[in-house]
Amino acid sequence: MAAAPAGEVWLTLDADLLARALREAPLLQPLEAGETGEILLVRAPVSFVDTLAAVVHRELGRCGGFVAHASLEAGRVQLERLEQTRAAPREERSEGVAAFTVDQPGWAALLADGVSESELLATMTTVSTSFVNRYHAHPSGSAAATWIFDRWSALAAGRPEAVVELLEHADTPQPSVRLTIPGTRFPEQIVLLGGHQDSTVSGCFFDPGCVAPGADDDASGIATLTEVARLALASGFQPQRTVQLVAYAAEEVGLIGSSELAEAYLDAGAEVVGVLQVDMTGYPGSAEDIVLISDYTDSALNDFLVGLLETYQPGLTWTTDECGYACSDHAPWHLRGYPAAFAFEARFGQHNPEIHSADDTVATLDDSAAHAAKFTRLAAAFLAEAALVDPGVLFADGFERGTASAWSPPTD
Ligand code: BES
Ligand code: ZN
Repeated sequence: MAAAPAGEVWLTLDADLLARALREAPLLQPLEAGETGEILLVRAPVSFVDTLAAVVHRELGRCGGFVAHASLEAGRVQLERLEQTRAAPREERSEGVAAFTVDQPGWAALLADGVSESELLATMTTVSTSFVNRYHAHPSGSAAATWIFDRWSALAAGRPEAVVELLEHADTPQPSVRLTIPGTRFPEQIVLLGGHQDSTVSGCFFDPGCVAPGADDDASGIATLTEVARLALASGFQPQRTVQLVAYAAEEVGLIGSSELAEAYLDAGAEVVGVLQVDMTGYPGSAEDIVLISDYTDSALNDFLVGLLETYQPGLTWTTDECGYACSDHAPWHLRGYPAAFAFEARFGQHNPEIHSADDTVATLDDSAAHAAKFTRLAAAFLAEAALVDPGVLFADGFERGTASAWSPPTD
């Protein structure tokens, strides 16, 4: 395998983005052009990632994303996948999603109703203030991973079957963190919820002391995952499919953690039946409460999310929008054929204007987790409904405590 020399990286990116970035940093050798001429594979100094991130955001983000690769071969494979996906970005990924039904009012309502705004705000505050930044290559980035590992381990302490791991990566020193609750009936089927733990601001690559609180992007997603873990583990919820929660490493520098993980799952033949991404849930920038991102996601899984919203949070409004590029960790799963969805805080362009700056703090979110709580209730309902197969699974005491109107009791 042609690994990238130290200090260099292979990148797949849009031709337009490359053209814009080249105006600021010329140190790049184009290596290979994609078939359509729209996506390029290039070799660049690692610091070029910083330039790209700055250009993407300054120029409104519509010009395209980029993905970093550890080897030339990995870049070539990605190039092929990106081109196929651009031809059919909304293609359905899996027949398996069709098996998802909204028929667990007991567990879904119990977990969703348990969501605590003060817990969410506490996690967002701690994650965004305890480390000067969570940049993947700086010591504080690894310290943040350790904090998440310790927190999730504490939540899992009373559940011996639950496993919390630090997952090392080839292309970043920051490990991802994964909590697994094995399924009782179909352990080979995996329901995965994720968000990214790293943060960035322009220039962070050169400065380990850069101030990058990343409260919305994406301490909010980490808070959602932590709250879902707390509720699922404390309630005695036992998934029939395997549930995994992942705090991804190194998203901000080209989706590195999620790409390596999705690739490893694919190599292992893992059966991932649904992936939900939570990245930026704190800032209510649009008239609608929840925006389902419709590109690089699975349309059947998005329909399932709509069913969950209409059943468990009927007072909320929702709409769809596009990122226009592979903008977060759902994309690597989608690109490998796994059904993924991304529930986002606002319409694209109406999202938090402070992301990737020192002002991405909880103060910008009015010190409130009210918006994040809507996404956390959605994530909790997703976990219950996607991970339970038999309709109307009862509590351990044999009672169904469901309140949702969509549910009707068994007739026999
Ligand atoms: N949270 C953002 C993604 C995002 C930003 C989605 C604004 C929708 C609106 C994510 O952390 C991020 O910054 N992604 C990068 C791309 C990635 C491939 C490095 C981006 O959007 O520039
Ligand atoms: Zn970001």
